[in-house]
Amino acid sequence: MLKQRVLEAINDQINAEYYSAYLYLAMSAYFYDKGLPGFANWMYIQYQEELTHGNKFFNYVNERGGKVMVKAIDQVQTDFGGIIEVFEKTLEHEQYVTDRINKLMDIAIQESDHATQSFLKWFVDEQVEEEANVTEILDTLKLINGQGNGIFLLDREMRQRTFVDTTQTAE
Ligand code: FEO
Repeated sequence: MLKQRVLEAINDQINAEYYSAYLYLAMSAYFYDKGLPGFANWMYIQYQEELTHGNKFFNYVNERGGKVMVKAIDQVQTDFGGIIEVFEKTLEHEQYVTDRINKLMDIAIQESDHATQSFLKWFVDEQVEEEANVTEILDTLKLINGQGNGIFLLDREMRQRTFVDTTQTAE
């Protein structure tokens, strides 16, 4: 059984993961609208990944005999000032999520909840990867100054990304 404090913090994190999904869905829509289907694809996969993160927490709460509280999702930003801004916001958002996961881990440690600590390790590792992936794209975007042929080529590369549910393959 999950302690109330841990349960509440995880329920908030479930909301944050679905908020992230919505944010990336909005970014995908923005890129489709701008005629950048590769970037749109990349963000759509990002959206799918966030759904699996929310689902992973959802399943964990149920497994531990807690009740998930499905809360309203705040309106996300739907318009942006260009490709670089989108990825700057993505990195900023992932850093915020990393901070949230760390705080969640702090709560699990304070409450001596070893099972939750073990569960959260997957998210700690995932955040390292998330930040690294976005930083790499952002660096490339800055190198080509967010425009020209470089964008065309990068868009083609972004189109290659396919969805893999990593929550199912790595525990
Ligand atoms: Fe669910 Fe992108 O962190």
